[in-house]
Amino acid sequence: MDALFILSILSIISLSLSQECPPQLLENVDFPGADIKFEYSPDVQHCQHLCTQHPSCLFFTFLRPDWTVDDRHFHCYLKTTPSGEPDVQTPLVGVTSGYSLKSCNPEPMPCLPNVYQNVDFFGADYRALFTNSYQECQRVCTKDRFCRFFTFINKDFANENIRYKCHLKFSWPIPRTLNVNRKPGVVSGFSHSVQFSQPSDIACSEKLFSNTDFEGSALESQPAGTPEHCLALCSANPQCTYFSFQSNSLTCQLKNDPNQVVMKSQEGVTSGIATHFCQQDANWVKTALEEVDFYGSDIRFELMDDVETCEKTCSIDQNCQFYTYLNENFSDSSYRRHCYLKRVTTMPAPPKVTKLDNVVSGFTKRNCI
Ligand SMILES: *[C@@H]1O[C@H](CO)[C@@H](O)[C@H](O)[C@H]1NC(C)=O
Repeated sequence: MDALFILSILSIISLSLSQECPPQLLENVDFPGADIKFEYSPDVQHCQHLCTQHPSCLFFTFLRPDWTVDDRHFHCYLKTTPSGEPDVQTPLVGVTSGYSLKSCNPEPMPCLPNVYQNVDFFGADYRALFTNSYQECQRVCTKDRFCRFFTFINKDFANENIRYKCHLKFSWPIPRTLNVNRKPGVVSGFSHSVQFSQPSDIACSEKLFSNTDFEGSALESQPAGTPEHCLALCSANPQCTYFSFQSNSLTCQLKNDPNQVVMKSQEGVTSGIATHFCQQDANWVKTALEEVDFYGSDIRFELMDDVETCEKTCSIDQNCQFYTYLNENFSDSSYRRHCYLKRVTTMPAPPKVTKLDNVVSGFTKRNCI
């Protein structure tokens, strides 16, 4: 194929993308009110991706590091209105506002190449080591399959004993269903396009221990529909060694004891061990769960005749990760035939971002290749 032809196709694609995309960032402009919530972001590009990945965010206002009114630096306010547009725009120094990129074919895992001097990504640590430079810390983070972002302590940091320390940090890279309940007339499932396991040539030899509890307190609990979803969550978390899934309450208990596993027979509990360098079988992703509601995290709903159409609609929508369909047996007839398309944030997201002298923070560069 000749280069000119490819070039002209590329320019048509980029033209059509830019036409769908919302206008650019507005510096020193506030979109007051209409808040859903705030999350922390180190810069306005990250904030825009957070808005894009939030199910209902349509526009946002970011409080930059040079914001002087109070100490709400790095606050990324996610916003929405029924019209999709901010009702008001006002001038305000120290903030940048903009729009969600949901309509522009967004990358599920955007490249976040910037590093941030004198900025701490506080919390979410799972491992620490010493490196000679922040660049080396970022390389370690990029090579470590769990690392999503890092904070490196500089040579001039006040506490001498932790200079050159490199903190590797984690946030969830795979979709979590934040509320899972049993409900008649409801069917839920996942987009067939979402990856739950790292790609690998080697298939995992999976073993689930039915009617068995792996004893010990949980590092954390996550709602989940099946033991296989629980296995995917455990395998994606650097601290999870094994798990127990309670089928009555639909909860996935992630455990982190690397020294022992005490197995006990228990009805209704399925347990298993985290997988590491192999690919989990993805058949469970394609199985719809009868009488299970993945409540909340709605992008939007559409009316349709069956759950198969709902699943297909979710699978071809880049923003959709999972769905819930209300069929003819749902108690309230006015909600029957509703297909709810859903998602949660899976890009790297530090739980807190603050100013701190002589540290450097940044993200994994594995999504930049
Ligand atoms: C509704 O309930 C009936 C009776 O339990 C069942 O036979 C039918 O398959 C259900 N419909 C759907 C769409 O699940």
